[in-house]
Amino acid sequence: MIDTHVHLNFEDYIDDLETVILDAEKAGVSHMVVIGIDEGSSRLAIELSKQYPSLYASVGVHPSESENMFEMQATSTQFIEAMLKDEKVVAIGECGIDLYHEDYNLEYQQHVFKEQIELAKTYQKPLIIHSRSGVRACIDMLKPYQGHVKGVFHCFNGTQEEADEILELGFYIGVNGPITFKNAKDAKDIAMHVPIERLLIETDGPYLSPEPYRGRRNQPANVKYILKTLAQLKNMSEAEVDDITTQNAKNLFLLP
Ligand code: NI
Repeated sequence: MIDTHVHLNFEDYIDDLETVILDAEKAGVSHMVVIGIDEGSSRLAIELSKQYPSLYASVGVHPSESENMFEMQATSTQFIEAMLKDEKVVAIGECGIDLYHEDYNLEYQQHVFKEQIELAKTYQKPLIIHSRSGVRACIDMLKPYQGHVKGVFHCFNGTQEEADEILELGFYIGVNGPITFKNAKDAKDIAMHVPIERLLIETDGPYLSPEPYRGRRNQPANVKYILKTLAQLKNMSEAEVDDITTQNAKNLFLLP
């Protein structure tokens, strides 16, 4: 199993990071992609990937941080470009458009997202996309780059039609905790609709703990509950879903 989206660089893990990583490895997680949301957390993701062989880093600017980037008069390309040279950096993000939080300025978000799409194209690195209530806006920005960039819509919460457009763009779709929730029909429907060859599994820890740990701090070992539910939804064996989703992640992030 590969946890393709986890924030082990957040302070939620500061007291027991080593245990969290060991527990994940014991549960069968071979690789974890640690996701940055700004310069500092991206740098920390890289540092952690040096300390722990099973960790890899994604570097970028989250929509929530795009306004800060503007205030600092910084361009996200500067620090990301430098970090992309590191061999354990496997992706750019998380980045994208968030229209759920109304106080995030759309114009800034679009500017910062576009810079990262351009970098993904130039350096041929996959994008990890955050698209909360902004799936349509993200698709619209990626369309002109079809065939030139790839990546994953992590924690996807759009419609089946939008999922189809994303597959058309050549992107993967990331599923996580909500597919295990009894009342999350939409998330389950998407997981059933998208071909297994185009799905990635992720925890998004510390958020979105799956059942039976809903409401508690999430961690990469819990990716097994997402795998288990996905196997049930797909009517496949867990081993088969593990093989295919692991290969999907290796293909996208060029993991060893
Ligand atoms: Ni995230």
